[in-house]
Amino acid sequence: MYRDSARYYDAIYSFKDYGAEAAAVSAQISAHKPDAATLLDVACGTGAHLAHFAREYRVEGIDLSEEQLAIARARLPGIELHQGDMTTFDLGKTFDAVTCMFSSIGYVGTLDGLDAAIGRMAAHLAPGGVLVVEPWLPPDAFEAGHLSTLFVDEPDIAIARMSISHKEGRRSWFDMEHLVGSADGIEQFVEHHELGLFTVEEQIAAFERAGLRVEHDPEGPIGRGLYVGVASSS
Ligand SMILES: C[S@@+](CC[C@H](N)C(=O)[O-])C[C@H]1O[C@@H](n2cnc3c(N)ncnc32)[C@H](O)[C@@H]1O
Repeated sequence: MYRDSARYYDAIYSFKDYGAEAAAVSAQISAHKPDAATLLDVACGTGAHLAHFAREYRVEGIDLSEEQLAIARARLPGIELHQGDMTTFDLGKTFDAVTCMFSSIGYVGTLDGLDAAIGRMAAHLAPGGVLVVEPWLPPDAFEAGHLSTLFVDEPDIAIARMSISHKEGRRSWFDMEHLVGSADGIEQFVEHHELGLFTVEEQIAAFERAGLRVEHDPEGPIGRGLYVGVASSS
């Protein structure tokens, strides 16, 4: 997963507008909990959303990958960042908002994993708290046999990344081949990424089983949709 690629993650995703995405999520949080003051970003990666959320909330993050967290720690000194699995974590505290962005939820792989992760996130919500999840693609929207390419050409680094999409039942996966050039040399590595494909109904049901009232926006910040769950206020 995110091991060799972690130190290039921010360069690879420099095209994303993390500020605008965080603002869209904050608007959802405010609509449901105007006094929200604390936020946990689950699968926070290198902390790019947290850097923006930190201007509005007291924030913490959690991610499985130590390599991703190392980048996040350098970016966000003084912010608590935990290593943990979204399907099992227990921080022993609650937050007014919990977020899980950029399809990270897909990495749970199975419907049991989806239930476990949404359950753990819901368990970290304060009364009336808001859970915002940006999903991976549903089975009917994921195409196998598609070649994806991504190129970065900056003065100090060049990256070419290519992969072909694969699908078997509810599994989607990519073996992402990277070629990275800098003054230090030229490096090549492959990373396997595997994500579960869940229908809208399955994701809504997972929120409901976790005791949340849920709304689904099919568009969301980048066209992959957005689920907003709200915990009961008592
Ligand atoms: C596509 S990246 C998104 C990172 C960040 N949220 C962003 O928007 O840039 C997916 C992240 O999910 C993390 N991840 C994958 N499986 C996880 C799990 N079971 N528990 C926690 N984090 C996980 C990866 O380490 C990676 O940082």
